[in-house]
Amino acid sequence: MGYSCSMLDNPDESMHNAFMSHAWRVQILDNVCFVRAYAKINLTLDVKGRRADGYHELATVMQTVDLHDTLCLTSAGDGRVGIVCTRPELGNEENLAARAAQLLRERFSISQGVLIELRKRIPVAAGLGGGSSDAAAVLLALQRWWRLPPSLSELQALAATLGSDVPFFLTGGLALCEGRGERVTPLAALWPQSMRWLLLLKPAISIATARVFQALPASDYSDGGSSRELVEALQEGRLPQPEDFHNSLERGVLERYPEVARAKADLLQAGASLVRLSGSGPTLYAPFPNLSSATRAQEQLQASGYELYLTHAVYLDGEDRNV
Ligand code: C5P
Repeated sequence: MGYSCSMLDNPDESMHNAFMSHAWRVQILDNVCFVRAYAKINLTLDVKGRRADGYHELATVMQTVDLHDTLCLTSAGDGRVGIVCTRPELGNEENLAARAAQLLRERFSISQGVLIELRKRIPVAAGLGGGSSDAAAVLLALQRWWRLPPSLSELQALAATLGSDVPFFLTGGLALCEGRGERVTPLAALWPQSMRWLLLLKPAISIATARVFQALPASDYSDGGSSRELVEALQEGRLPQPEDFHNSLERGVLERYPEVARAKADLLQAGASLVRLSGSGPTLYAPFPNLSSATRAQEQLQASGYELYLTHAVYLDGEDRNV
């Protein structure tokens, strides 16, 4: 049967009507399993200090957005994990999606193999969590497809061994993430109307997260106050203050990567009122209250050669849709 990832390219949510849409993730059709992996932005990223294990203690508020990769899983008779990717350089066993499948096979002694087709749309090494989201999508999809027993907490523990952001992507939506990022508290807050549209700008460079953390001086640490303030505001239905959208990594990234500083200035010049770095960058996001102002900025910046994505916040219902 000729199923492929392209079957999922017609989104079933209408972006232009969406305020905060609820998206499905896993779909099982006969002997094929499709799953979407959504990108995230960091509304805050408070780095509180360096830990003895080399990681940094964080408080970060993340939100999934409707930019997504698509994965298509089929059974492989050879009892191995294979991966092919629309970006061929990512189609190898080091890919976090392949490692996620391998981890589940080992943990549950599964002899069956799987072939992962990964249709990549989320920019790579961009601060949008694409690789982590792909891994979480594989864990969720295979848990259902192979009818594995793990509870969400066990799946979260397995996810955390793959990367600090992976547990967040199991539930997605809006969440406060603490520890090294793996302690996830989902938030049932309302998304502010004035931030309905999120324009993402990806400068034409890639940044390795580890290097950004390594270069972070203690003077850029924060006490977690901005994450607390932002969560409180959203939970009370208030728009957070601009200073609540704090990212401890942003100052250093803007200083070391002039392309990112220039892109931030250009976004502001194009009409954005708030521009922040997502994660360790280089992607910047800017909220807009309406589609026309977001589109205007997008077109102006595209004409200058920038890579942009017009998105909105998305909650993931996680439902299994058997067709
Ligand atoms: O957990 P993950 O492998 O995604 O992290 C990538 C790198 O980012 C780590 O190797 C570490 O250098 C840095 N990091 C950190 N503190 C965190 C998360 C990541 O220092 N809380």
